[in-house]
Amino acid sequence: MQKGISQRDAAKIIGVSYGTLGRWIKDGKVEDVARDRNTYRIFTDEDIARIKEYADSIQYSSPRDAADAQPCPYTVASFFAGIGGFDLGFEQAGFTTKFQCEVEPFCLSVLKQHWPNVPKWGDITTLDNATIPISDVWVGGFPCQDLSLARMGQREGLRGTKSRLFHEFAGLVGESKPRVLVLENVAGLLSSHGGNDFSILLQTLAELGYSVGWRTLNSRYFGVPQSRQRVYIVGCLGDRRGPGAILFESERGAGSTEEGRPNGKKPASTLPAIVGDISGDGPVIQSVAYCLYATSARHTGTDWSRNYACYPKSGRIRRLTPAECEGVMTFPANWTKLNELHLDTEQLDSARYHALGNAVTPPVAHWLAKRIRLYLEMVDGEKAKRQTRTRQLVPELVG
Ligand SMILES: C[S@@+](CC[C@H](N)C(=O)[O-])C[C@H]1O[C@@H](n2cnc3c(N)ncnc32)[C@H](O)[C@@H]1O
Repeated sequence: MQKGISQRDAAKIIGVSYGTLGRWIKDGKVEDVARDRNTYRIFTDEDIARIKEYADSIQYSSPRDAADAQPCPYTVASFFAGIGGFDLGFEQAGFTTKFQCEVEPFCLSVLKQHWPNVPKWGDITTLDNATIPISDVWVGGFPCQDLSLARMGQREGLRGTKSRLFHEFAGLVGESKPRVLVLENVAGLLSSHGGNDFSILLQTLAELGYSVGWRTLNSRYFGVPQSRQRVYIVGCLGDRRGPGAILFESERGAGSTEEGRPNGKKPASTLPAIVGDISGDGPVIQSVAYCLYATSARHTGTDWSRNYACYPKSGRIRRLTPAECEGVMTFPANWTKLNELHLDTEQLDSARYHALGNAVTPPVAHWLAKRIRLYLEMVDGEKAKRQTRTRQLVPELVG
C-alpha cells in the first residue's frame, strides 16, 4: 500500500487539477484527508479511491444534474452550437434542448456525448424549417472570424464567408418565428464596417418582426475566471418590452457590482485555483485569465502565451492544458474529453483548445436563460389572466 501521497500526485492519479481537488475538499464535495507535520495534505490509497469514485460520478454526468431550477415547459433550439455553452446554461435554467445544429465534427461528437437523444443537423446552409422542432427560444453564436478584432487585417464583416451565415440563420427565423432569439458574438460586431454590419443585423431582425436589444457582458462578472467580453443580442417576437426586461435588471442599484448581485459576482474560482499551487515552486499566474480565443490552438506566437503558467524556480513556462481551459471557461471537468477517441492526443488537444476558445461561457448563458424564462412566464401569466377575464366577462355580457 502507498502511503503519504501529496495533493499534487493525488490530483494526477485522480485525473483532475490540483486546484479542483482542493476545491472539492474545501466545498465539502469530498471528505478532507489527514495532514502531515507541515499541515500539507497526505492522501492514502483509500482516500484516492474514494475521491476517484466521486470524480467518476460527475465526470460525464448530464448537464441536467447541474440544474438549479425546476424544469419548465420552455424549449430551446441551438444553432452554431459548438460544444453547447448556450445549451448547458439553458438546461441549468430548466429549459429542454430540442435541436442542435453544428457543422464541425469534433464539436458534433461533444454534443452527441452530452445530448445523445437531441436531434442534430450539420451544415446550416442545407437545413430547412421542417427539420427544426418547434422551440420557444433559438440561440446562436454565429461564426465571428470576419468580425473579430483578433484577426489581423481587413474584416469582411457580415459579407465574410463565415459571418454571413447569420443570414442563413435569419432566413430560418423568418419562417419559424420562435418567440425569443439570442445571438452572441465578439464585440467587434458592433464596429465592423463602421457599425454598418450591426445595423444590417438589427434591421434584418426588425423586418422579421422582432424587437431587439443588446448588451455587452463580461464573463468575469458571472463567476468565470476569465475576462471575456461578448455582445448578446436578444430579440422578442412582437414585444417591445421583452429585450429590455431580459437584458437589463431593474433591481440593480446604480453602478453597483457588489458580490452576490446577479451579474456582479466575483469570479467563483480564480485561475490559480484552477491551475493550483501550494509548494511555492509555482505556477505564478494572474488571478483572472485573459480571453481565450479559438486561434490559440494554432498560434505559436503571442496569443496563447498571454495565458501561461510560469514556474519561477525551474524557469519553466507552459501553456494551459485543455482541462484547465475548460475550468477557465467554467465548463464541467472533461466536457470536451471524448469517450470514443479517434484522434491522437495532439489533434484532440488542438480541437479542444479551438472549440473552447469559440464557446459561450455557461454561466452567462445560464443568467440569460433564467431571465428569458422569467419573461416567458410573465407573458404567459398575463395571457392566462386575460383569457380568464374574458371567460368571466362573456357570460355576463351574454346574461
Ligand atoms: C462562435 S462558435 C459558437 C460556439 C458555441 N456557442 C459554443 O458555446 O460552443 C461558431 C460555431 O459555428 C459552427 N459553424 C460554422 N459554420 C457552420 C455551418 N455552416 N453550419 C453550422 N454550424 C457552423 C462552427 O463550427 C462553430 O462551432
